[in-house]
Amino acid sequence: MRTGLFITFEGPDGAGKTTQINRLTDYLASMGMDTVLTREPGGTQIGEKIRKIILDPHHKEMAHLTEALLYASSRAQHVAEKIRPALNAGKTVICDRFMDSSIAYQGYGRKLGERVRIINEIAVEGLVPDLTFLLLVDPDVGKKRISNGYLDRLELEAIHYHRDVYQGYLKLADLYPERILCIDGSRGVEEISSEIIDKTAAFLGKLKG
Ligand code: TYD
Repeated sequence: MRTGLFITFEGPDGAGKTTQINRLTDYLASMGMDTVLTREPGGTQIGEKIRKIILDPHHKEMAHLTEALLYASSRAQHVAEKIRPALNAGKTVICDRFMDSSIAYQGYGRKLGERVRIINEIAVEGLVPDLTFLLLVDPDVGKKRISNGYLDRLELEAIHYHRDVYQGYLKLADLYPERILCIDGSRGVEEISSEIIDKTAAFLGKLKG
């Protein structure tokens, strides 16, 4: 039986997820909650190997469907080996990207549509996050933020692709307003992090009734 809380972070590249994830993890730890921090693609030894294949800039010939299936297989392993056992043990799992990333990037960005949802439903076997923070920054701004360092295969995509991904995220937020909380990522780190912490605390409060 699953008793732990499952929180995911989503958003276009360059939205500043990493800083916010670390801050929320520290907050939950300070509240005495046993938390597991993990990421996708990856999170397991097998998943990290799949991650390298997907993101390698040399793999220019990778078919979109191959890409979607690789993300989903990394996710299947992650759920089976790490996420579900942790949740069953009552731990809180914070995951940097999950199924919504595939819907936004492969479903909307690569235009694979409904197939991505079907593949992923098979991969996650019914596991849905309790709470998802969607950090939103304008895709043009996000692309500029990441353009200084090393860029992986997905990050190298043209701006119109990143705009489609962004629109995909907005559609997901419309579809699941209870679960997906939109956060304006254009503000300062402190302001964003207090909003995320407040919203998490409110959610935990509701759970306790
Ligand atoms: P990552 O390097 O972790 O970047 P970020 O720090 O922005 O999260 O993510 C790898 C890339 O993979 C990122 O561009 C988003 C993309 N991605 C997908 O296209 N589909 C997916 O299902 C996942 C999990 C990530």
